[in-house]
Amino acid sequence: MVSQIYSTALQKSLAIATGIFSQHTLRCENWLTLLALITISIKEFERRLVRFSSSIFLVLGAAINFKMASGGSLAFDEYGRPFIIIKDQDQKKRLTGIEAHKSHILAAKSVASIIRTSLGPKGLDKMMVTPDGEVTVTNDGATILKMMDVDHQIAKLLVQLSQSQDDEIGDGTTGVVVLAGALLEKAEELLDKGIHPIRIADGYEMAAKVAYDHLETICEKFPDPRKNLEPFIQTAMTTLGSKIVNRCHRKMAEIAVDAVMAVADMERRDVDFELVKMEGKVGGKLEDTMLIKGVLVDKDMSHPQMPKSVKDAKMAILTCAFEPPKPKTKHKLDVTSVADYKKLREYEKEKFEEMVKQVKDTGANLVICQWGFDDEANHLLLKNELPAVRWVGGPEIELIAIATGGRIVPRFSDLTAEKLGTAGIVRELSFGTTKDRMLVIEECKNTRAVTIFIRGGNKMIIEEAKRSLHDALCVIRNLIKDDRIVYGGGASEISCSIAVSRAADKISTIEQYAMRSFADALESVPLALAENSGLAPINTLAEVKSRQVNENNPRLGIDCLEKGDNDMKVQHVIETLTSKRAQLMLAVQVCKMILKIDDIRADGGGDM
Ligand SMILES: Nc1ncnc2c1ncn2[C@@H]1O[C@H](COP(=O)(O)OP(=O)(O)OP(=O)(O)O)[C@@H](O)[C@H]1O
Ligand SMILES: [Mg+2]
Repeated sequence: MVSQIYSTALQKSLAIATGIFSQHTLRCENWLTLLALITISIKEFERRLVRFSSSIFLVLGAAINFKMASGGSLAFDEYGRPFIIIKDQDQKKRLTGIEAHKSHILAAKSVASIIRTSLGPKGLDKMMVTPDGEVTVTNDGATILKMMDVDHQIAKLLVQLSQSQDDEIGDGTTGVVVLAGALLEKAEELLDKGIHPIRIADGYEMAAKVAYDHLETICEKFPDPRKNLEPFIQTAMTTLGSKIVNRCHRKMAEIAVDAVMAVADMERRDVDFELVKMEGKVGGKLEDTMLIKGVLVDKDMSHPQMPKSVKDAKMAILTCAFEPPKPKTKHKLDVTSVADYKKLREYEKEKFEEMVKQVKDTGANLVICQWGFDDEANHLLLKNELPAVRWVGGPEIELIAIATGGRIVPRFSDLTAEKLGTAGIVRELSFGTTKDRMLVIEECKNTRAVTIFIRGGNKMIIEEAKRSLHDALCVIRNLIKDDRIVYGGGASEISCSIAVSRAADKISTIEQYAMRSFADALESVPLALAENSGLAPINTLAEVKSRQVNENNPRLGIDCLEKGDNDMKVQHVIETLTSKRAQLMLAVQVCKMILKIDDIRADGGGDM
């Protein structure tokens, strides 16, 4: 290739040289001039050749770079047009057509089958161990998939699917993957029948629309939460039912509803999750979890004899040192006698008492200090009856200042009465026999911020409780945004499945098959629920389905807890309409996307 390029370059250079030569010969008068001209022309030719060849080397250099970057190399055809030669083409993995579809579906199915056993109130948990031995036990679909370290590209799409459901809705992250897995499984059967993937994707789209609209017809509206909180608590209980926290099911649901209602803006129908904080502390029981309407700080009063609670607290929030003035190392102070030393001590004490008085004069009865103060100062504070908290971190100081409506005071001399923060009560929480203490600042003037304080036997339980409560908080928020609900336990899926298969009969094109498969795939959710509860899945589903049709009752679902009633309204198994709709739409989108890929190439090591 190089020689080819070089010969082209030589040809071009000769042409240039001839051009220069002929220009000058036109004007030459004698041979001497001609000779001189030839020399000039040759020099010019050399100069241009050097320039031209250096540009060729530039091109070659770029081509080599390109080769290194892309695994291909750049070449030119006889017209100078560049093209790329990809080496080792035979070593690349490539799948096309039906092979590609099958391989994708297999990958997606295996991810869905892992997570399928976690669905429902009797779904099982998964334990994930990180390379450094950290253990996570969870039932949350999004968390399981996120921690699963999936390599396959299509499997990653399913991980992202459950992540989107988590971001959008917060709950239903397992259900959405189970549904997507089932849709792809059914698509495989259709592909085997010889139906084109695009027709399948179209059929799924049509079916999803029917199901989406059908949900609207079977949904119910909730009453205003300001009047009756009970239905909201029931919905939160459905969400928490499948989690480890279901031991104190009702209490957790109440905490979630109270937390959301405390911060909800009912006019705008929105909830700011920034105002809901979750703190956990190992120890105690899950039942000891509580909702604190205020701020929780992992600190205690600086002296054990200081009061454990301060009512009508007025807080001086200091980010400057609050201690007797000390001689710093850069000062030189000669103390030559005991008397001098005593005087110095006396002076320090006097000065600090003056500072304490200054704080008390502003009306403060509690000092929150970012810096520490030594034991001597601590003792003096106790003597002067000014409770104080030391070493409070920067972000916590800010949170306290915002919550109590106080100002952070960076210089002691700036402290005034208007800058104090106020709170109804500041109290210390103590835990069992441990010396751990925390400070609770409640009835704050300025904020609706709440903290859910989770207790549990170990870190794993606390983390899982946080995830579960997050699901419940999201569900309540969704209900405040859109108060329509459908019934769970697979009831809405069965009802949609019936509606879709009815609609399929009316379609005369080939999409009919895809719609029927969609209806079958919807049944995978009740099937999985029954299977995970130890029931005979097909029998149970057949019975419930026939009852739904005969009784025209879309509330009938799988009685997972074997309470003896299939009516999910009676069992209070409630889900939000937004969640079900999001599940449907997200699952269909991913299936369509996967069905549209018919050619994959991966580098030798790539997983396909
Ligand atoms: N008591 C119950 N009886 C019957 N079905 C129930 C009951 N409680 C919950 N379900 C059903 O269980 C399913 C929810 O299970 P689960 O919470 O494990 O998964 P998810 O909500 O899809 O995902 P995740 O909660 O992990 O984000 C829903 O279909 C819901 O209707
Ligand atoms: Mg759930």
